[in-house]
Amino acid sequence: MTLKNINPSKTNDWVMLKKHANIIKHYTLKKLFKKDINRFNKFSIKFNDIFLDFSKNHIVEDTLLLLCNLAESCCLRQAIKKMFLGNKINKTENRGVLHTLLRNKYINSFVYQKRNIYPEINNLFNKIKNFTNDILRGHWTGYTNKKITDIVNIGIGGSDLGPSMVTEALKYYKTDLNIHFVSNIDYSNIFHVIDSLNPETTLFIVSSKTFTTEETMTNADTAKKWFLKYAVDKKYILKHFIAISTNLEAVKKFGIESKNNIFQFWDWVGGRFSIWGAIGLTISLSIGFKNFTNFLTGAYDMDCHFKTSDFRYNIPVILALINIWYINFFNINVHLILPYNNYLKLLPDYMQQLDMESNGKYIDRNGNFLDYRTGPLIFGGVGTNVQHSFFQYLHQGTSLCTSDFLISLFPLHDFGDHDIKLFSNFLAQTRALAFGNTNVNNNKKFIFNYYSGNKCSNSIIFKKLTPYVLGSIISMYEHKIFTQGVIWNIFSFDQWGVELGKRISKDIFNVLKNNISNNFDSSTNGLINIFFRKNSLF
Ligand code: F6P
Repeated sequence: MTLKNINPSKTNDWVMLKKHANIIKHYTLKKLFKKDINRFNKFSIKFNDIFLDFSKNHIVEDTLLLLCNLAESCCLRQAIKKMFLGNKINKTENRGVLHTLLRNKYINSFVYQKRNIYPEINNLFNKIKNFTNDILRGHWTGYTNKKITDIVNIGIGGSDLGPSMVTEALKYYKTDLNIHFVSNIDYSNIFHVIDSLNPETTLFIVSSKTFTTEETMTNADTAKKWFLKYAVDKKYILKHFIAISTNLEAVKKFGIESKNNIFQFWDWVGGRFSIWGAIGLTISLSIGFKNFTNFLTGAYDMDCHFKTSDFRYNIPVILALINIWYINFFNINVHLILPYNNYLKLLPDYMQQLDMESNGKYIDRNGNFLDYRTGPLIFGGVGTNVQHSFFQYLHQGTSLCTSDFLISLFPLHDFGDHDIKLFSNFLAQTRALAFGNTNVNNNKKFIFNYYSGNKCSNSIIFKKLTPYVLGSIISMYEHKIFTQGVIWNIFSFDQWGVELGKRISKDIFNVLKNNISNNFDSSTNGLINIFFRKNSLF
């Protein structure tokens, strides 16, 4: 069973929201806070170690009521059920969407396409556990019997952004392995990684769902050549190369035949949702299997919250609805991810793929072009650094953005008053954005420090940056994005928009490599000629 195709803009709730927005637009955040001294209590939700304050938004109780009605009219409740049951909601690829199953340790059977797939999942986790322990304890050694010291994850997109973001975010819990990431097809990426490594103690993890991605396969071949330059005998590949993929044929072709070296995943796990299973192997190696399990548990607990909470008190749903409110009724289409935690500096990059590859769509589930906006441009960076770069634009620029500020209450390192200063900055920014400082405007002679304020933000406060909490945060965002996709009536789990570029790149590669004649447009042809004449141009 697939999702119901309901055009949200044709619902009565949408019409009501439009009218309601015209009223709310007359109220500044300052006015809304003055009118209701209970805003903070009314518009905040706590779930386990996460607290969401969404009071600094242009909303009143009625707004939430209407937005929740919209979610009901778009059959969100049924859609959630369908996803967790494994219905083929990824219709354009004819697949279920079951990454949530990977973090559910409380069942022992799950039927997908008439087959109990749980034993395979169980096997995968046992394999990740044993492999992690074997590497960490030195039971799995390199070709000269030395302990593995360095792991190189070769992958791109979902096979890189998740493992690299989580490895960085949970560096505090790190094992004694050095973890490196190679993603770019630009040789300088892999060159700088392998340049300092010892082939005897390096293990490559080739992560690719399809095992056909040009960047990953090119880098994997380069890594293999580099390794064989030292090890010479091909039989040693099995001591230094691991493959994570759904494409077992291609893995074999690459030279990895032993089952011990292959970590499988399934087509019902999307690339950008894949950190919870085999793609998480690098994470397990970087923080140990127990921490990896806690990471999964955090995500699972958020799944339960999402599945069972009333929409009005459901963190992912509220985040999704508020964002829809701004995108579709205030025309604000840029959303910022602003972690005030240095360990989370890669979170905005991760969120770009998770959100934009999912909801950057202009065709609805019926195959019609949309007449309303969908996923926002995701942008961001780590606080306080960003205060000294793009925050000027937030405060006085001519375009508006929505934003999530994230911060922990208990720092991992306690030194001096760093944490109090960090928290003060986080509060100062959300306050300045919301309430500005219009007093200075009395003096018309100098208006350059005029802050209009009235800019919204969400504050997401979490207890401490633990594997458990990080799992919850990522799961929270996954479900936010899912909710939005359901309401916008789009397919969030495919990514057809990235395919065309890949195909054209292959054609152009053929022209450049073999120096064959071509018939592209005049700009592309002109630039190709420059490539051929590079020695004479400059
Ligand atoms: O090009 C986009 C994409 O297909 C992403 O969706 C995916 O995460 C990435 O490429 C990598 O794909 P793979 O894991 O198959 O190498």
